[in-house]
Amino acid sequence: MVNSKNPQPKHVAVIMDGNGRWAKNRGLPRAAGHQSGFRTTRDLVEACARRKVEALTLFAFSSENWARPEQEVGLLMDLFLRGLKSEVSKLHENNVCISFIGERSAFSTKLRDEMHSAESTTKNNTGLQLTVAVNYGGRWDIVDAAKRLAEQVKAGELEPDQITADKFSSTVTLSHVSDPDLFIRTGGEKRISNYLLWHLAYTELYFTDVLYPDFDDAELDNAFEFYAGRQRRFGKTGDQVTDNHA
Ligand code: IPE
Ligand code: IPE
Ligand code: MG
Repeated sequence: MVNSKNPQPKHVAVIMDGNGRWAKNRGLPRAAGHQSGFRTTRDLVEACARRKVEALTLFAFSSENWARPEQEVGLLMDLFLRGLKSEVSKLHENNVCISFIGERSAFSTKLRDEMHSAESTTKNNTGLQLTVAVNYGGRWDIVDAAKRLAEQVKAGELEPDQITADKFSSTVTLSHVSDPDLFIRTGGEKRISNYLLWHLAYTELYFTDVLYPDFDDAELDNAFEFYAGRQRRFGKTGDQVTDNHA
């Protein structure tokens, strides 16, 4: 048994899944599920800011989601663009620093401009570090980092021996925040779906059947409660961790 509880997670990473099924259960179009999921996101960001979570990383659109029907992809892009326009000033007022990870070249100029403007408006904010993963894939992230390191080696700026795990961590995305402490996936699936493959090495994994639009503050409490009860050993024995014999 764990004697003392883990402190609150500093960095929470979420796969917001189940919008489509939520809508289907109600006989509504998938779009309604995404709309409702958007409102959940607003509340989730607010709840994390209020709880003084340091970083929140949300999976909004995966590199594989382009394979969805064109109409749904268009709708998600539209929701994303409108969301950015409507939410950034409030996020800014609340001292939230927003940034995006993922391959941006696939997006419209309008969307890229809006992303850039949200980032530059909020870049000096010292509150919640909110990262939205869009057209993101964990494999893309690792491959992109490998490419950049290879380029540095080619340019004679880096020795192959200097490519360590730490170096890699500072080259992949999210290098400005510590690795996620808690991962949450709503919607019942127990998989990572090409999310933060590098960063989740020692993250506590929480899966819930709750569909994303229903993931409210009480559900966030449940996830935090789960986290509080985990013993994080990082390869050590339980005794080493509880007896402080590190
Ligand atoms: C998550 O909900 C939102 C995105 C992937 C953009 P889904 O749309 O995947 O919902 P389900 O899994 O079909 O219920
Ligand atoms: C993962 O959800 C991606 C996002 C939530 C953005 P999916 O619904 O795309 O995942 P799979 O396809 O069920 O693994
Ligand atoms: Mg899904």
